[in-house]
Amino acid sequence: MGRGARAEMETACSKVRSPDRVASRSVEPSAARLRPLEPGDVDSLIRWVNDAAVALYLSQAVAYPASESDGFRWLEALSRSHTDRVFAIETLEGRLIGSIGLHAIRWIDRKAELAVMIGERDCWNRGYGTWAVRETLRLGFEEMSLQRIYLRVASDHEVAIRLYRKCGFQPEGLLRKDRYVGRGYGDTLMMSVLKEESAAGESGARTP
Ligand SMILES: CC(C)(COP(=O)(O)OP(=O)(O)OC[C@H]1O[C@@H](n2cnc3c(N)ncnc32)[C@H](O)[C@@H]1OP(=O)(O)O)[C@@H](O)C(=O)NCCC(=O)NCCS
Repeated sequence: MGRGARAEMETACSKVRSPDRVASRSVEPSAARLRPLEPGDVDSLIRWVNDAAVALYLSQAVAYPASESDGFRWLEALSRSHTDRVFAIETLEGRLIGSIGLHAIRWIDRKAELAVMIGERDCWNRGYGTWAVRETLRLGFEEMSLQRIYLRVASDHEVAIRLYRKCGFQPEGLLRKDRYVGRGYGDTLMMSVLKEESAAGESGARTP
């Protein structure tokens, strides 16, 4: 990595080394659950990815308006996939609020890419994303025996980066001008957590 790129990555990373900028408002760790996605979830999934505020930082895959049939096709493909595991996130009261998945699973390399979406905006900043990422890391490392879980996040997506840091993810590289967000090109921060690091991320999670 060149000096310029390294400096940019360090700048991006330094933004996420001060987790006490915002007061903690997280829910208790038991305040949600994961379950398999069902056909009845398609309406919500489509509504979320068609919501510009939710989709702003999602991948190109959801850059265009999606239809109900797109949703059913996606669900059908997921049900046959050996390389994706996607779950619904619901509150203990049974309200569907988001989805989370491990994608591009490489069983020999024991690695996968994590993606999360809290689609119901009134549920943002209540700790559900943190809870869901931690639970998915537990599933990935303990039950699927993965060794490495990685993700890509827009380098200015401070809420997501803070959440991932709390869950033990570490920055490991910067892809320059990798995505078009809003009105310009932005960098993508690569982050990962290894199995042996995951427990440390959980214990150091909360800020007073
Ligand atoms: C990003 C997303 C998953 C976060 O989920 P969430 O449930 O709102 O996140 P949490 O409440 O668990 O944690 C958010 C943290 O960011 C903090 N935060 C809130 N606003 C912030 C800001 N402007 N800057 C930095 N941190 C901020 C919160 O205080 C909280 O930290 P705390 O628990 O220590 O208080 C959710 O907003 C979402 O799904 N967005 C749309 C899809 C998306 O962007 N997915 C991620 C793509 S990489």
